[in-house]
Amino acid sequence: MHSSEERTFVAIKPDAVKRGLIGRIIKRIENKGYKIIALKMLNVTKELAEQHYAEHLGKPFYNRLITYISSGPIIAMVLQGDNTVVGMRKLMGSTMPTDAEVGTLRADFAQTMEFNVIHGSDSVESAKREINLYFSPEELCPDWKTMLELVMESEG
Ligand code: RTP
Ligand code: MG
Repeated sequence: MHSSEERTFVAIKPDAVKRGLIGRIIKRIENKGYKIIALKMLNVTKELAEQHYAEHLGKPFYNRLITYISSGPIIAMVLQGDNTVVGMRKLMGSTMPTDAEVGTLRADFAQTMEFNVIHGSDSVESAKREINLYFSPEELCPDWKTMLELVMESEG
């Protein structure tokens, strides 16, 4: 797969959904030009949260993290584009909002590391795992054509 079709998994976390930030966050993603190839709102069960954040099991913040992620609905998305894993992490900013560059989502919308509004996969391997965790293959819509392309095609 060409790198311009790299996929990443992104989730707008429950506090951001409750604060009415869905549109503003998605706007930044669309501004960047990433193609949203799947999107849904869902309540993350404790079991799903534990699978998602399995790498953090045993850490001091683990229980609070699981409680946070399952505290309300999230917006789960799959993005496709050039270098989306690294690019999306850059757009999100550092885990700790006070370290994040101004202009990034975490710097602009979050105050604390605990409630940092957005998740993005940290590697292509994590992205594959997380996409499979949240979406079935039929829920991905990567292959669509613009109206102009469809008209051109039908006119031969
Ligand atoms: P995420 O997985 O949510 O995109 O965040 P991240 O890669 O930037 O950071 P990660 O190390 O994977 O941590 C996952 C989430 O756990 C919370 N956290 N709290 N109190 C702490 O020391 C601490 N460290 C991490 C944050 O909500 C972080 O986003
Ligand atoms: Mg992480």
